[in-house]
Amino acid sequence: MKAAVYYENGEPSVLKYEDVADPKCHPRGVIIKVEAVSIEGGDTLNRWRGALATRPHIVGYQAAGEIIEVGAEVTTLKVGQRVATTGADGSHAELRAVAARAAWPIPDGFDSKLASVIPVAFGTADDCLFEFGRLKAGETVLVQAGASGVGLAAIQLAKRAGATVLATASSDERLERLKPYGMDHGINYKTSDVVQSVMRLTNNKGVNLVVDSVGGSTLQGSILSLAYRGRVSMVGAAGREPMQVDVSSLMGGNRSLSGVFLGAEIATDRAHDNIQRLIDEAARGEFQVVIDRTFPLSQAAEAHAYIKSRQAVGRVLLIP
Ligand SMILES: NC(=O)c1ccc[n+]([C@@H]2O[C@H](COP(=O)([O-])OP(=O)(O)OC[C@H]3O[C@@H](n4cnc5c(N)ncnc54)[C@H](OP(=O)(O)O)[C@@H]3O)[C@@H](O)[C@H]2O)c1
Repeated sequence: MKAAVYYENGEPSVLKYEDVADPKCHPRGVIIKVEAVSIEGGDTLNRWRGALATRPHIVGYQAAGEIIEVGAEVTTLKVGQRVATTGADGSHAELRAVAARAAWPIPDGFDSKLASVIPVAFGTADDCLFEFGRLKAGETVLVQAGASGVGLAAIQLAKRAGATVLATASSDERLERLKPYGMDHGINYKTSDVVQSVMRLTNNKGVNLVVDSVGGSTLQGSILSLAYRGRVSMVGAAGREPMQVDVSSLMGGNRSLSGVFLGAEIATDRAHDNIQRLIDEAARGEFQVVIDRTFPLSQAAEAHAYIKSRQAVGRVLLIP
C-alpha cells in the first residue's frame, strides 16, 4: 500500500509518500480501506517529537473507511461496514489495522469524511466539558484555541448545553469564523490580554470552566480567568512549551485544574458509547463537523505545513 511515512522527527517536510507493507489483521481487529484521514493536533506533535514505533513510521490517530477484513475473534463488525477508527498511529495510509474496540460504525448516509473527524476531537471536548468539567446550563465557558479541532467541538457542545461561550484565537479572521458555531465572545490573544478580556466580558466574575488545549502560554491565564469554584480541563500542549503554573492561584477561589486524556479511557464502555453517541448526533445534524480543507494523501507534507501555518479552522483531511 501507499502511506505517508517519516524516518525521523521534524518539520512537515520529513513526510514522504512511499510503498510500505500492507498491515496484518489482528484476531481482535479489523483492516479498513481508508477513505479519509483526519489530521489531529496530536499527529503534528508526534511528527515533531513523538516516538517512532517503526522505521519508517506511519503517524496518525484517526481515519474512517470501509472494513475489508475482520479478525477471527471479532463478532461485532463485518466486511463492507464503514467505520471511524482511532489508534496510536497508522492513519496516514491507504489501509489501516485497528482494534475492533476502536472502530465505530458510521450511520448510513453520513459522509466518511465527516465521521473521520469525530472520535478524538468531539470525544475529548465532551469529556473536558462534562465528564471532568461538570458543565451546567447557564454557566460560562472559555475555550482556548477555539479554531482548533478540539476547540470547535467544545464551542458547539458547550453552546448546545446552554452555556455562554468565550473563545480565543490568534486573529480576528479566525474568531469571525467561529461565530456561526456558537461562540458568543471572541478574544484575539495577539492583540488583547485574555484574563482582562474575560473579566471585562463576565463583569469581573470569571468563567466557570476553561478548556485549555494549548498549555504553556495559556494555562496560567486559564486559571486566572476562573470564577469562584471554576474548573480548568487541561487537555493538550498545542503551544509546544513547558507548562508551569502557580498552583497557589487555585486555592483561594476553590478552583480546580484537571488533566484530561481521552486515550486513557477510550477503551472503556463509557467513552466508547459516548463517541458512538456523538457520531450518531453528528449524522442527525445536531452539530457541525468543520472541515477546512482536504489534500491527497500523497501531499501529507503540504497538509501538515498548511496546519502549521495556522490558517486552518477545524480539520484538515487527507484522502488516499
Ligand atoms: N488529552 C487528550 O485526550 C487530547 C485529545 C485531543 C487533542 N489533544 C491535544 O490537544 C491539542 C490540540 O489538538 P487539536 O487537534 O485541537 O489541534 P489543532 O486542530 O491542530 O489546533 C491547534 C490550535 O492551537 C493553536 N495554537 C496555539 N499555539 C500554537 C502553536 N505554537 N503551534 C500550533 N498551534 C498553536 C492554533 O490556533 P490559534 O492560531 O488560533 O492559536 C491551532 O489552531 C494538541 O496538543 C493535542 O495533542 C489532547
